[in-house]
Amino acid sequence: MSVLEKLTSAEAIDLENKYGAHNYHPLPVVLSRGEGVYVWDVEGKKYYDFLSAYSAVNQGHCHPKIVGAMMEQAQTLTLTSRAFYNDKLGVYEEYITKYFGFDKVLPMNTGAEAVETALKICRKWAYEKKGIDENQAQIIVCEGNFHGRTTTIISFSNDENARKNFGPYTAGFIKIPYDDIEALEKAITSSPNIAGFLVEPIQGEAGVYTPAADYLAKAKALCEANNVLFIADEVQTGIARTGSILAVCGNCTCEKACEKQSTYVAPDILILGKALSGGAYPVSAVLANDAIMNVIKPGQHGSTFGGNPIAAAVAIAALEVVNDENLSQNARRLGAIFREKIGAFVANSNIATLVRGKGLLNAIVINDTEESDTAWNICMKLAENGLLAKPTHGNIIRFAPPLVMNEEQLLDCISIIITTLKEFEK
Ligand SMILES: Cc1ncc(COP(=O)(O)O)c(C=O)c1O
Repeated sequence: MSVLEKLTSAEAIDLENKYGAHNYHPLPVVLSRGEGVYVWDVEGKKYYDFLSAYSAVNQGHCHPKIVGAMMEQAQTLTLTSRAFYNDKLGVYEEYITKYFGFDKVLPMNTGAEAVETALKICRKWAYEKKGIDENQAQIIVCEGNFHGRTTTIISFSNDENARKNFGPYTAGFIKIPYDDIEALEKAITSSPNIAGFLVEPIQGEAGVYTPAADYLAKAKALCEANNVLFIADEVQTGIARTGSILAVCGNCTCEKACEKQSTYVAPDILILGKALSGGAYPVSAVLANDAIMNVIKPGQHGSTFGGNPIAAAVAIAALEVVNDENLSQNARRLGAIFREKIGAFVANSNIATLVRGKGLLNAIVINDTEESDTAWNICMKLAENGLLAKPTHGNIIRFAPPLVMNEEQLLDCISIIITTLKEFEK
């Protein structure tokens, strides 16, 4: 079949099933177009996108400014590799480091690569700056974490499906419960070999778990007191998703990370991906100050595509959109409406037990077992009713629309969600 032929949904699904590895379990919806908060399937049905490609499309589908920057750069220079300099990378590096308040950036492509990068930087810093004996460095991580799917990253996951039969695993990680400051204190003081603490400011994939308001600040203080690097994975929570440019900004709504804000918990290493490109292109980044980043020397880390001119142009445009369109403030305002209205429904519902989240990263917990297919069936019904969302971990549905949504659209979506949930009341 030629790729130019127009496929039906059934044909497209058959092709993926036959020729693609079965490493995902998608909802049976075949999308062929997107604009802003909407996507359309191949039969022309229109949906609200309430997943945003796992929070990558924060700026909305096919944002004209981002697509424009990408097209212009694609017609000029696409890839040089880092064997040579290019005239876009330095401009982007200055832009992103000033945007987030760090000395330096290391550009990569995917979120998992950026996490791997941060782990390597942390280990190298531990041996060369902290003075830990070779091969002894330990990094603390949290139970329920999701940082990607490489061999090292799944080594410290506690999702059996992601781990089983992929061993032997990478050593050097200590797992503690999330949002448990005593557990962190115990682990951090347990050995002089602790190099870093890797944490998601909100655990998105695990089901949108928001820690206690002072958890991150206390964790950072413990790291500082013990000369341990505080590494924030903001691949999912970053770029305005939770109502501030970074989740570690706390209650600050300005569009740039700023240390002047009292609620800002400054990471020693910041990991970004996904919406750093508005979902237009794989762009990820690791940011740190010189004292940490300068441990990396030529030949010790890299990627053929990392820092390519298209990525640089796209990321600048994507960050400008966040700023131009006040996306943090919009996420904050609409998120509060979402939780208030869904919360009112949940209070009298026996199918939904809880709504939680921050900004426009939210989840509804469905009243059924982890193993049940109720959340999946609700998502199928939501799709029929014109809204796309996906269960994350059994009975939890994550709701994360593009941040360019307006209030009228959000109210329409809330009405679809409530109407759909009512069909499942027991
Ligand atoms: C917190 C976090 N870190 C890392 C990743 C991995 O990103 P990628 O899928 O681009 O490798 C994800 C993906 O969902 C994530 O949520």
